[in-house]
Amino acid sequence: MKYLWGLSALLLCLYRADALTDPLIVSSPMEVNNQTSAILSCNLTNPPSTVKGHYWMRNGNVIESSKQDSAALYTEYILAKIDFHSGGVYDCVFLSDPVVKKSIAVKTAIHVSAYKRSEHGNEQDKGVLVCVSHGYPLPTDWKWYKLEGEEMLKTAITNGTDRYEIKSTPNRTTLTINDLDIAMDMGDYMCYGAREVDSAFDKIHLRVRSRLAALWPFLGIVAEVIILVSIIFIYEKRRKPDEINDDEDSGSAPLKSNAATNHKDVRQRNSN
Ligand SMILES: *[C@@H]1O[C@H](CO)[C@@H](O)[C@H](O)[C@H]1NC(C)=O
Ligand SMILES: *[C@@H]1O[C@H](CO)[C@@H](O)[C@H](O)[C@H]1NC(C)=O
Ligand SMILES: *[C@@H]1O[C@H](CO)[C@@H](O)[C@H](O)[C@H]1NC(C)=O
Ligand SMILES: *[C@@H]1O[C@H](CO)[C@@H](O)[C@H](O)[C@H]1NC(C)=O
Repeated sequence: MKYLWGLSALLLCLYRADALTDPLIVSSPMEVNNQTSAILSCNLTNPPSTVKGHYWMRNGNVIESSKQDSAALYTEYILAKIDFHSGGVYDCVFLSDPVVKKSIAVKTAIHVSAYKRSEHGNEQDKGVLVCVSHGYPLPTDWKWYKLEGEEMLKTAITNGTDRYEIKSTPNRTTLTINDLDIAMDMGDYMCYGAREVDSAFDKIHLRVRSRLAALWPFLGIVAEVIILVSIIFIYEKRRKPDEINDDEDSGSAPLKSNAATNHKDVRQRNSN
C-alpha cells in the first residue's frame, strides 16, 4: 500500500513537471458537430523549439494549400462548406523540434448509399449487393434487411445463415446471396448503417434472371441464323426453275452459235 502511494505521488510529480514545460495546443473548437461551416484554429503555447511553419492535415493527408512558412504560434483553417466529403479528423501541425500537433474531429451527418440502386444476377449464380458510407464518423454497425411483400416488411438477414454472407468495413458493406432463386431472392433489400447517435439506410432492387433468360441473346442469334438460312433456301428453291427457263429461252442461243463459229475457225486454222 505504501509502495502504491509513493508511486502515485511520483507519477503526479512527473505529470506536473510535464504540464509546466510541455507544449500545449489549444484548439477551437474542440470538435465540430453537425455544422455547415467552421473555422478551425490552434494556439500553441510553450513550443519545444522555434517554429518554422505550420500546416493542416485531414485524415492523415497533408492539405497542401494550408502550408505556411511562418514562426507564428497560431493557425486557422476555414471550412466554408461542411458536407460528408469534408468530414474527418483534422490535425494542425507546428514544425518545431519535435513536431507538435493537435486533432479536431469534424463530424458530419451520417451518409449511407447503395453502390448501385439496381442489381441483377442469374438464377443459381450469386447476387452481390453493396452499400458505402461517407462522412465522419463512419457507421460502427451494419445490417441488411429484405423487404417483403406489399408492406415492405423488414426481415433481418443474418450473416452465415442459409445462403447469405455479409462482409463489412466501416465504409462499405457487402451482402452476397449464393445460389440465387427467382421466387425467393428477387425483390428489395435495405442496407442500414448505425453510429452511436444516428443511422441511415438505402435500398437496392435485385432482379434475378432465369438461366434461360441468360441464354436468350444466344438463342436469339441461333433463331436469327435459322430464319435467314430458311429464307435463303426457300428463295433459292423458288427461283431456280425460272432462271433455267430464262437461260434456255434467250441467253444461251447466241452462245451456242458463237461456240459453233469458234469451232469452225479452229478447224480451219488447223487445216491450213
Ligand atoms: C443537425 O442539424 C440539423 C439542422 O441544422 C438538425 O435538424 C439535426 O437534427 C441535427 N442533427 C444532429 C444529429 O444533431
Ligand atoms: C493563445 O493562447 C494564449 C494563452 O492562452 C492567449 O494569451 C492568446 O490570446 C491566444 N491567441 C489566440 C490568437 O487565440
Ligand atoms: C460473416 O461471416 C463470415 C464467415 O463466416 C466472416 O468472414 C465475416 O466477417 C462475417 N461478417 C460479419 C459482418 O460479421
Ligand atoms: C474505405 O476505406 C479504405 C481504407 O480504410 C479506403 O482504402 C477506401 O478507399 C475507402 N472506400 C471508400 C468508398 O471510401
